[in-house]
Amino acid sequence: MSSQPIGVFDSGVGGITIWKEITQLLPNEHTIYLADSKHAPYGQKPKKEIIELSVKNTELLLKKGCKIIVVACNTATTNAISYLRETYDIPFIGIEPAIKPAALHTKTNAVGILATKGTLSSELFNQTSEKFASDVAVVEQIGEGLVPLIEQGKLESLELQQLLKKYLKPMLDEHIDYLVLGCSHYPLLIPEIRNIVGDEVTIIDSGQAVAKQTKAILEKNDALNEDTSFKVSHKLYTNRDLGVLKQFVPANTESSITCELLDF
Ligand code: DGL
Repeated sequence: MSSQPIGVFDSGVGGITIWKEITQLLPNEHTIYLADSKHAPYGQKPKKEIIELSVKNTELLLKKGCKIIVVACNTATTNAISYLRETYDIPFIGIEPAIKPAALHTKTNAVGILATKGTLSSELFNQTSEKFASDVAVVEQIGEGLVPLIEQGKLESLELQQLLKKYLKPMLDEHIDYLVLGCSHYPLLIPEIRNIVGDEVTIIDSGQAVAKQTKAILEKNDALNEDTSFKVSHKLYTNRDLGVLKQFVPANTESSITCELLDF
């Protein structure tokens, strides 16, 4: 059991930001990553469809023998993780916007959150926001259009810059000092976001917290990989564009990383 891989899925390449944190914190673990780019973006889809897609991804990761599944997508976590936990007898780790630390540390009493429509309208997000951020001004913004551009690898396009400016300007007008990236695709845009918000705004995402939680659960279940006789292997699959997937996967000589096109 313990030498089986950690499964990770997202609506596309965004979850690679989480996958990287996991592979850094748990260098002995084998991983399998699914980029469901063919069905991206999940963010505008109805809850029912997000659950169906999450089930499809989960079934494939189970077929490939994963011992734990990381839902590296805020939209899928906030809409589908309770269904997955009720349905499958395997641990699921989810990712949610880091609204709690932002609300705790803000000095201007104003925080911004950039996320998908599916996340911002979910019950889970609204409960968390009410619980931890009811005393601060939360400037919510749907990042419509950002994920499709990232999925095409157009990180430095003018179109993307313009969208980001449009979304972040109202937050700056409200004097936010924390910006929560509530979509796993958005950390890929940190250099572009930093150019717009300057150095005064702290940008936070949940990648490290997810990796720590994954480690904690594996430790608790006595399921960390202890067999170091094989080179660690990472298999990443996309159902759309292999070139775009490879654009975001770092070279690592310590482990074997393969990227493949797969229909799922
Ligand atoms: N990366 C996803 C998230 O964290 C979803 C983006 C999308 O497919 O709309 O919310």
